[in-house]
Amino acid sequence: MIIIYTLINGSQKVKNSNSKYFIDYISNYLNDYIIFDLQHNNYKDIFNCIKCSDTIILAFPLYVDSPNSLTLNFLDYIYDNNINLKNKKLYVIINCGFMEGKHNITALNIIKNWCVKVNLTYQGAILIGAGEIVGKKSYKFISRNALRKLKKFSISIKNNKKSNDIITTMDLLNNKMYCMLANISWNKKCKKNKLSKEEIKK
Ligand SMILES: Cc1cc2nc3c(=O)[nH]c(=O)nc-3n(C[C@H](O)[C@H](O)[C@H](O)COP(=O)(O)O)c2cc1C
Repeated sequence: MIIIYTLINGSQKVKNSNSKYFIDYISNYLNDYIIFDLQHNNYKDIFNCIKCSDTIILAFPLYVDSPNSLTLNFLDYIYDNNINLKNKKLYVIINCGFMEGKHNITALNIIKNWCVKVNLTYQGAILIGAGEIVGKKSYKFISRNALRKLKKFSISIKNNKKSNDIITTMDLLNNKMYCMLANISWNKKCKKNKLSKEEIKK
């Protein structure tokens, strides 16, 4: 049986999106798929593809304990326009900035409620903490526990199986080390944008 997957990146970022990194990671385990980007693709193209596919894989970042606005707009559009998603399955990947993936639980509950309203079969989720680290190839060495879980999740999708909701936490770093890494990245961005460290603290 051929299963066709529609993978959707809901990130607001124009480049280096962590959600896209997770989508690409999962797509390595699949054969027939198309990847869309809510930032660049129009809904018409996305729905045309969804019509022909069995499974949707939606990845997005956590913004203020909720799905980000680009993703919320997409969810609202489907609900408001009664788009028919009966017999389609959904897997979800949510990533957040905090180290603990449990911060994504409220956003996942929003998705679960939405699935009931739009008749979509919920198949499972992975809630990724420290998305800015796990979602970057250069930090692979400290993300191995989370990536192992992402692999397990990918295999469930490939086998068309329901998955338990999986939560990942950046367990190889303590809080202090995590903040240090985050600061390195902010300082680089400051330099690039000709801002001093003091200016971004204001
Ligand atoms: C406006 C805004 C709100 C955010 N709110 C949260 C939040 O409530 N909790 C959290 O852990 N991370 C929060 N983050 C961090 C993002 O979830 C994190 O950077 C994520 O890795 C971005 O994923 P993306 O690259 O796929 O867009 C927020 C980021 C932005 C820009």
